[in-house]
Formats: sequence, structure tokens, C-alpha cells
Amino acid sequence: IKCISVSYILCLTFVGTYGSENAPTNDFPASFKFGVATAAFQIEGGWKEDGKGPSIWDVGTHEHPNSVVDGTNADIADDSYHQIDRDIEMLRDLGVNFYRFSIAWTRIMPNGDRSSLNRFGIQYYNTLIDKLVANSIEPMVTMYHYDLPYELQKIGGLTNPLFPQYFESYANVLYSNFGDRVKLWITFNEPSDYCVPGYGAGSEPPFVNATGIGEYLCMHHSIIAHARAFHLYKRDYFKQQGGKIGIVSSSRFYFSRTNDTGIVNRALQFNLGWTMHPIFSKSGNYPEVMIRDIASNSQMEGREWSRLPEFDEFSIAYIRGAADFLGLNYYTSRYVQLGPHAETKNPSWEKDARLNCSVDPSWKRAKTPWLYNVPEGLGGLLRWIKEEYNNVEVIITENGWSDDGRLNDQGRVDSLKEHLRYVSQAIKKHGCNVIAYSHWSLMDNFEWLKGYSERFGLYYVNISSPERTRVPKKSSDVYKRIIATRKL
Ligand code: NOJ
Repeated sequence: IKCISVSYILCLTFVGTYGSENAPTNDFPASFKFGVATAAFQIEGGWKEDGKGPSIWDVGTHEHPNSVVDGTNADIADDSYHQIDRDIEMLRDLGVNFYRFSIAWTRIMPNGDRSSLNRFGIQYYNTLIDKLVANSIEPMVTMYHYDLPYELQKIGGLTNPLFPQYFESYANVLYSNFGDRVKLWITFNEPSDYCVPGYGAGSEPPFVNATGIGEYLCMHHSIIAHARAFHLYKRDYFKQQGGKIGIVSSSRFYFSRTNDTGIVNRALQFNLGWTMHPIFSKSGNYPEVMIRDIASNSQMEGREWSRLPEFDEFSIAYIRGAADFLGLNYYTSRYVQLGPHAETKNPSWEKDARLNCSVDPSWKRAKTPWLYNVPEGLGGLLRWIKEEYNNVEVIITENGWSDDGRLNDQGRVDSLKEHLRYVSQAIKKHGCNVIAYSHWSLMDNFEWLKGYSERFGLYYVNISSPERTRVPKKSSDVYKRIIATRKL
């Protein structure tokens, strides 16, 4: 009887907290992990120190200084190259379970290939990783966060079909040097966000303007490179190191004013599906709708072949299922309807997608013009991913809010709490397999072509002070309390 009543109570507790409409949605399972994220180029500085080679972003910001709105660059950035201890102090203070940072390929291999292994670069990340581990903070490493070695760009960068081989060699060096301590690997951060501006619209480094062609090639090679790094790990390292490998994409969620689920699905396939469908769907290929529409657009343009490259049969089998988790960067949403694209910044992609996007006047806008606070979109996206990709394991690798760097950052506090509420709800009411959340960003940093004019940090960074002083904002206190209590 005792046994039966114990299991009955356990059962009631389970039904009462998970998968139930009445579950409270202000807390998180004990196993859920909280972290913060940064990227090498945005925080490290030391752009040519200790043998580091130039990346496309070093060269791009130096050769086109006017392309950065406030005329700044990331030569010093937050000076994290010299401030590991201060960064660790902040991470400890927040009490995070993990720290998502990226490795600068150009520190490890200044020319991008094995001809140029740089032991100082390896040493820098060894020090960082050792200190994280010593403080019980799990390292989550992004291998590629936009900063391609400039030497590789000279041979075509991500449009070169040899790119996956170069990436595999780089991944090999990372696994063999850091894999004993790093158990969470991310191959690429947001391929669509570096492919479209970098190789399609030509608006960001490496400034290749090949609209409708370049971004598709870049994505194609990113996906193959991801799969090569994944299989290399599983074949040569997994048995000994036992970690996980994923890939990160950003995605908006979409709403339809006319409840047209077809258009919502179409938009999500063009956005998130472009990267994720080949890896996480059963087809091992791009979303059907992309294959069909880009082929027919290409035909109408009088081309013999589709502008969307094809995966051959071998690649399909190789890519399908090649990831342990899906990394999601979620910031904002849009209303969508079929029609001419309205936001013209990325002409080709939206032209092929024929997505006419708009915002709701009630949505609060951040300092960043594209960033509206739509936390319910995160809930919608997590549920869509659950259905579309067979409830794959999801890590929210980024989510955040920008302002002018104020210390009393109520906008960030509200956005953080509201988004986390939808994460809790996705897990507890909808059974989504979300295992971790990481806030962008630990501290204010170089926001690409927006320089330091848009601040995403939980800590303020004074970029006029030589030591790049870091000061906690209100949001850091709030996040700290959430992490400590696992409650909103
Ligand atoms: C996503 C990118 O990964 C990151 O580098 C960037 O700073 C944030 N979004 C904010 O725009």
C-alpha cells in the first residue's frame, strides 16, 4: 500500500507539473541550465596580438570604416583577450551554469589552415577553459561566429567548395586541444545571418555582392562543413570525449493576420528551415517549398539550373541527423503575408520567399530597429520546432534586448522575464525538449556594423576607459536571482 500510494503521489505530481494546462509556468526543471553568450570578435580585441591572423571582419572594418555606424572597430573591443579573470568574476557572480563563447579561427590558425598553427592562440583558450572548469562553469564553444580567416576569403571563403575541408581541419585542432574539457560544441552561428549580408547583399564583410547566388552557396557549404565536423567528432573523438555537437540558427516567428498557417509555415521554412531542415528533417534536404520556388524563379529568369545548389544522394545521407541538438537564437517576430518583400535590406532571400513582413504597432521596440519585444513568438517557435523536428533537443543559444547601455535597464529585465516565462511554458505545458537558455550577452560589446551604439549586455562596458571597465546593470541582478532560485 505504501508503494502504491508513493507512486500515486509521484504520478499526481508529475501530471500536475508537466504537460498540463494548469502547470505553473514560472519555474524550471532542476536539470535546466542557464548561461550567457558572447563571441570572440565582439569582445576579445587583441586583433593582431601573439600571432593572430586577420579575419574578414578585421579587414572589413579597417578598409571600410564608414560602414560601422559610430566609426568604431573591434581592435580592442572589450579587451577580453587580457581580461579573462574579470570575465570569470562576472560569470561567477551571475552564477551561470555555462558560458557560451566563440573561438577565433585566426588565433588558432592565422592563415586558416594547418600551415599556421599558433600555440599562443591555443594557450589563450586553454587558460579560459581551465578557469571556467575550475569555477564549475561549463564551456559551450562556438567554432565559427562570423570571423573567417581573411586568407580563406582570398580563395572564395564560404563560396569555395573546399571550405568544408578547411573547416574540418580546424575542428580537428579544436577537438584535439580542447575536447577533453569542452563537451558542448556549436559548429556555426547563424549561417543565414552571415551568408545573406556577407555573400548575397554584400552589405557586411566580406562584402561579396552576388544576390540570389552567393548566399545559397555559402549556406550549402556551411551545412556540409557542419556535417564533416560532426562526423569527424563521432568517428575519432566521441568515444573518448563524449560531448555533443549542434548548430545554431536565428529565426523569427511569424504570425498571420488571417490565420493562414500555410504562409506561416512557408516563412519558417525559408527562415529556420533553410539551415535546419537538411539536418533535422527526415528528408536530409532543403525544405520542399524552397527547392520548388527557387527552381521556378530561376527558370523564369531564363537560367538552366536553380540558384539553390543541390545536395547529391551521398550528401543527403551524410547530413541527415548530423547533430545532437538544435541551437536557437530568438530575438523577434513578424506578421507575414504573401507578397512583395517590404524590408528591402536583404533583397534576394526575401524576394525568393515572397514574404511581406510587418510589425504590430503595440510591440515595444528596442534600440535596434529590427528588434521588437514579442516573447510569445519564442513559445510559438519552440512548439513549431517540436512538431517539425520530432521534438529534437533544443538549446536557446541567444535571446536578448538592446538599449543605449543604461544601468537601470528595465527594458531588458522585462524582456528577459517575459521570454523565460514562455520557455517555462513550452517545457511544462507543451513538452518541448528545451534543455538550456543562454542570454545575449554577458556584457555590452561590438555589435557588428552598429559598433557600440546598441548595447545588449547584462554588464555595461565603458569603451572609453583603457581597462574597459565593466559595471553590473539591473538585469544582471535579476538574472542572477532567476538562476539561483530557478524561478521567475
Ligand atoms: C546574433 C549574433 O549571433 C550576435 O553576434 C549579435 O550580436 C546578436 N545577434 C545581436 O544582434
